[in-house]
Amino acid sequence: MIKSKGWNWEIVKEDENCIWKNPSIESYYLLNRWASQNKKDLLDLGCGIGRHAIMFGKNGFNVSCFDISEDGINKTRKWAESEGLKFNYMVGDMLELPYNNDSFDSVLCVNVISHTDTEGMKKVVNELYRIMKKDAECYLTLGSKDTWGFKQTDWPLVDPNTRLRMEEGPEYKTPHFYADYDLIMDLFKDFKIVNIRQVVDYYERDNKVFDSYHYHVIIKKI
Ligand SMILES: C[S@@+](CC[C@H](N)C(=O)[O-])C[C@H]1O[C@@H](n2cnc3c(N)ncnc32)[C@H](O)[C@@H]1O
Repeated sequence: MIKSKGWNWEIVKEDENCIWKNPSIESYYLLNRWASQNKKDLLDLGCGIGRHAIMFGKNGFNVSCFDISEDGINKTRKWAESEGLKFNYMVGDMLELPYNNDSFDSVLCVNVISHTDTEGMKKVVNELYRIMKKDAECYLTLGSKDTWGFKQTDWPLVDPNTRLRMEEGPEYKTPHFYADYDLIMDLFKDFKIVNIRQVVDYYERDNKVFDSYHYHVIIKKI
């Protein structure tokens, strides 16, 4: 199995418009959904610099922040303290989560769990199942095989679903697992799939348009 390196948040420029400081569109829906279901013990798995932890913390959730990147956790802590919020923090690898069985009502994994290979993905899915309470929900995103990254045939293919990402930047040489519908149904067969969508985001870089396809999935432990 290839080891995931996590992000180097020191090289990411932060300003108020930076996407990593502004919650994702879907998180507003999840906040409403999980608040109304009283699913308030929340794990932000791969919290980055804390954009979702802060949002849920401000709305009365008990937030645990977890990331393999120590500088991500430090930045989250600094931001939370400046808002007067108290969270639980842990640095570690998602392949072995440092939490007891049945710990959380809700888990957020926004653009995180694809940072591994197929063997690693199976471990993460088992870990999610273990740490979620019965009826808990998890929202996760997975890179899709339709996305431009998976089509980069000069990026090393380390197993049938995984490429090493060779772009300069915080993800340089990290493994990326790419999914399709059947693979997702098989991976999460022990959960109830509440919702599954494939979403395409467009962005421009160096005068080129990139189409980035992700699956957005809500699973429930039954
Ligand atoms: C694209 S960022 C997303 C951050 C955050 N979820 C957000 O939406 O703002 C991916 C995050 O996953 C973390 N990560 C990557 N591999 C990981 C692993 N094996 N265990 C835990 N965190 C990991 C990275 O360090 C990084 O902070």
